[in-house]
Amino acid sequence: MRSKCLLLLLLINLACIGVLAKNHSSRPRLRRNDFPEDFIFGSATSAYQCEGAAHEDGRGPSIWDTFSEKFPEKIKDGSNGSIADDSYNLYNEDVDLLHQIGFDAYRFSISWSRILPRGDLKGGINQAGIDYYNNLINLLLSKGVKPFVTLFHWDLPEALEHAYGGFLGSEIVNDFRDYAELCFQKFGDRVKHWTTLNEPFTVVHEGYTIGEKAPGRCSSFTNPKCFGGDGATEPYIVGHNFLLAHGAAVKIYREKYQAIQKGKIAAARATAFTFDYFLEPIVYGRYPADMVNYVKGGRLPTFTPEESSILKGSYDFVGVNYYSSFYVKDVPCATENITMNTDSCVSIVGERNGVPIGPAAGSDWLLIYPEGIRDLLLHAKLKFNDPALYVTENGVDEASIGEIFLNDDLRIDYYAHHLKMVSDAILMGVNVKGYFAWSLMDNFEWSEGYTVRFGLVFVDFEDGRKRYLKKSAKWFMRLLKGEYNGMRQKVAVI
Ligand code: NOJ
Repeated sequence: MRSKCLLLLLLINLACIGVLAKNHSSRPRLRRNDFPEDFIFGSATSAYQCEGAAHEDGRGPSIWDTFSEKFPEKIKDGSNGSIADDSYNLYNEDVDLLHQIGFDAYRFSISWSRILPRGDLKGGINQAGIDYYNNLINLLLSKGVKPFVTLFHWDLPEALEHAYGGFLGSEIVNDFRDYAELCFQKFGDRVKHWTTLNEPFTVVHEGYTIGEKAPGRCSSFTNPKCFGGDGATEPYIVGHNFLLAHGAAVKIYREKYQAIQKGKIAAARATAFTFDYFLEPIVYGRYPADMVNYVKGGRLPTFTPEESSILKGSYDFVGVNYYSSFYVKDVPCATENITMNTDSCVSIVGERNGVPIGPAAGSDWLLIYPEGIRDLLLHAKLKFNDPALYVTENGVDEASIGEIFLNDDLRIDYYAHHLKMVSDAILMGVNVKGYFAWSLMDNFEWSEGYTVRFGLVFVDFEDGRKRYLKKSAKWFMRLLKGEYNGMRQKVAVI
């Protein structure tokens, strides 16, 4: 894959050179009214990372239950999301926190196997699951917080993985469509913003190329401990089925629900280096030319004319998750041990001449580079027909230190610098309609377990999942307050 997004990174990287010397410690002053009046400020979570209650009230298992509970060695601290933040039971507190901080919206995901325990309609609907999301949505709306709902945030029903290999099987397209339709039917009278797939590239890459996330597949030469797999072919099949599943869900929404429910539906979102892979098909109905040229041996699936026309324009807005940037270097293409990672013939690294692109956060992959968010938003505007965009995730983590830690100045700096870049992008004409901080609260960080914390709210996993506002939550509160009180803010937040 030598997609245009890699080219984009090259541009970002060139841009970085002058920036490295810049002092990031002076925090930009921000006002709520630096952003358009109808700009949405929200925060985000996902079902498996927060809900817990994995074995309660008729929920079926997902591939993340299997991966983390049966193979604890795959998770850094041997943990899992079976209780997580216990949001299934404590959602009242979470909605109160959103309201207290002053967020306009909450982005959360639906656990597919909580409402369809076996993944498909013939396996039956779990009414307790439907009730849970109805209660959550109603409570949010009663507090003036808009629900932004993600349909798939990685927790595929285990039954579908077992039946036909999940996203490796073409059957997934209709099953995803049915699941999405059930959500539109049950919740679409109140949910006006839907996103189909969260970071499909992360699943393709970490689930099927390096095998570090569920379902843990890769070529044996990449990692002999993977549960089978072929990193040269499977990632492309899964990516293709993601796109077709997205297309099928949007088609049914547009044909049967959108006119009545008047909601908007977003595209697959992606991190910087995967952007064009999923965006070009839904904007222009084709894979990026660089992918077509560089994925040799017929391994990149093709779209039929009908599939291509279903995909083309299959979004009302695009969600972008941004955390970090990397340097990209041209390298000779590999001739053996081919995987999706080698197809791009580049090496992606965090430093140049021994100097990192930015300071490191709690996770070693998260090097802080605020300019990247502006450049990525601009790229989306210029290359993809000026779409309506939401930043659906942006945030930073700290390592868990085994005690309550609330003085997260690093996070305030991160948000202030990134939000400044978002407001600069808006001034440059990018149509950014909202911004979601990841995450409302500390949660299960996939294969990192609970070793790092991304929350604005600290969760004490040792003591009843008690929640405490971190300093960054109070910073957001001050930023949002003017608008929240229906008044213009006079003072900037620093
Ligand atoms: C993006 C993912 O969508 C989310 O689940 C994850 O926690 C964050 N990145 C941080 O790694």
